[in-house]
Amino acid sequence: MAPISKDIQKASEILKHDELVAIPTETVYGLAGNGLSETAVKKIFELKQRPLFNPLILHTYSLEQIERFVSYIPEKAQKLAQTFWPGSLTLVLDKKDTVPDIITAGKDTVAVRIPDHPLTLELLKTLDFPLAAPSANPFGCISPTQAEHVTSYFPEGLQLVLDGGACKNGIESTIVGFEGDEPIIYRLGSIATEDIINTIGGVTVINKNEDNPEAPGMLSRHYAPETTTYLVDDIQSFITSHPNKKIGAITFHQHIDLPNIQSLAILSPKKDLKEAASNLYATMHKLDQLDLDIIVAERFPEQGLGKSINDRLDRATKKK
Ligand code: TXA
Ligand code: MG
Repeated sequence: MAPISKDIQKASEILKHDELVAIPTETVYGLAGNGLSETAVKKIFELKQRPLFNPLILHTYSLEQIERFVSYIPEKAQKLAQTFWPGSLTLVLDKKDTVPDIITAGKDTVAVRIPDHPLTLELLKTLDFPLAAPSANPFGCISPTQAEHVTSYFPEGLQLVLDGGACKNGIESTIVGFEGDEPIIYRLGSIATEDIINTIGGVTVINKNEDNPEAPGMLSRHYAPETTTYLVDDIQSFITSHPNKKIGAITFHQHIDLPNIQSLAILSPKKDLKEAASNLYATMHKLDQLDLDIIVAERFPEQGLGKSINDRLDRATKKK
């Protein structure tokens, strides 16, 4: 099994040899390799069992680095970059020829991000290439927010997991692209839509493209536990109407006391959506280990990060 370590030099050496390292970011752990090396990028796709039509994000540490890979940055993208980087924003921009086709799945655009994690930023500065890094989970599974999630997903194939502790935001980055100069949110994520709108004005949200591989990462069943999962408006009556099932329940802030609840996860007793988001995946990983019949979550308020949480829970309920 890959060691879990804080050794940046070791991680850097491994990456320079076209091998893979899992890296911490403030959103989720990434499965990283040299983004300019076809050999390394192929290893990422193979290990994740990810279809080649689903493009990857290039991670780097500065806007100057990003300019090596993109040909044009619309004004609104510059504003978003200034406001949110380093941070949980991914921009989809027109690419330069320096970006290999395997990264972009043959598209004319490339996804780029400057993550906000001190270890990974330090690592990136030791490299003269960007890191391609999808979330470090097998395709379709819940993203990892702790180093141990990564090692249990990938006992083989990884040389090292760079240990950055628990990811503080806990949900993937918000992806913003452009049609002409018009901004589009392609994936709800760790930055609330309201915060994007406060920065650049109106945006179109195209998040719900079921099973459309053209729409970024938005295959309908994604982020899913093995245990059958439900997302409901009235969690108490759902649980009461399944008396013979062993249930894991996820609530925003309310406590529920019913006999068939085996495990109750309250994501934020103090009603903070950011805290709830940061606990979501770790909770789903934990409940999925408990041999339950059902996981049920209550729908979160449709505002701020509540929308991103509902999006992930909704995808988790889709059948295989
Ligand atoms: O928070 C995150 O973004 C994490 C951390 C590790 O940075 N990464 C992540 O990567 O979530 P991944 O590969 O699991 O999701 C990246 C998404 C995919 O859904 C992909 O379809 C979309 O980005 N994407 C990548 N390049 C694109 C492009 N050129 N146009 C549209 N969507 C793109
Ligand atoms: Mg992913």
